[in-house]
Amino acid sequence: LVQGVKLFDSIDSTQNIAQRLAEDGAPEGTLVIAEQQTSGRGRMGRKWVSPSGKGIYMSYVLRPAIPLQFAPQLTLLTAVALCRALRSVAAPLDIGIKWPNDLLIGGKKISGILLESTAEDERLRYVVTGIGISVNLSRDDYPPELHDIATSLAIELGRTLDRAEIIAAFFAQFQQLYVIYLKDGFAPIKTLWEALSVTLHKPRKLLVAGGEITATPVGLSDQGALLVEKEDGTIIPIFSAEQVPGQG
Ligand code: BTN
Repeated sequence: LVQGVKLFDSIDSTQNIAQRLAEDGAPEGTLVIAEQQTSGRGRMGRKWVSPSGKGIYMSYVLRPAIPLQFAPQLTLLTAVALCRALRSVAAPLDIGIKWPNDLLIGGKKISGILLESTAEDERLRYVVTGIGISVNLSRDDYPPELHDIATSLAIELGRTLDRAEIIAAFFAQFQQLYVIYLKDGFAPIKTLWEALSVTLHKPRKLLVAGGEITATPVGLSDQGALLVEKEDGTIIPIFSAEQVPGQG
């Protein structure tokens, strides 16, 4: 899958470079990796802590022939591939997926996925998937306000890890699942995601477009939305929600 790797010492964000390359016609599998990002970004306009040489900051271009509405499925597929890869290189850590795209150890975040897509006539033109993995960061690399909610593989394991090995493990997993997805659709991925999820079956307060609701995630829809059961027993799909802070 990986076509051409562009390595940078320090750039603003690997997302920006990969997007520019995609606009210029870069093929599927074009991969941008940086040692350091000066404006690494996360979902919901957040910053992504990206100190030099300590994490994995990468973005790659995909061009799947799928409708725009299926883009969330790719986020979930990526989370499964990443979870499986990190479990294999960082055994015996218990790494799980928090919907839609965070990887957690003991409730603390170690990795995030940012999927940015561009479409024309409801079909995807390209997708840029950005992945940040906190590999060898120490506690001091994080601002104090993140100490309770973020961690790294090195902090959890007590030893540093080889970043190249993690990247290779990820793409091996991703390639395998992507082929299955393009051939057989989302159903097999959905089953794998549900098995790795730490989000399901725990009631949560969620901020959705209509306000705050308390609901229990019960599974995924075929489209990749999270199905949550509200207190009145009805089940609704949600595509984007914020968890009300302080719930672990
Ligand atoms: C999130 O959890 O909110 C998503 C974080 C995504 C971070 C990665 S690091 C590589 C790529 N470049 C960016 O600026 N962001 C993504």
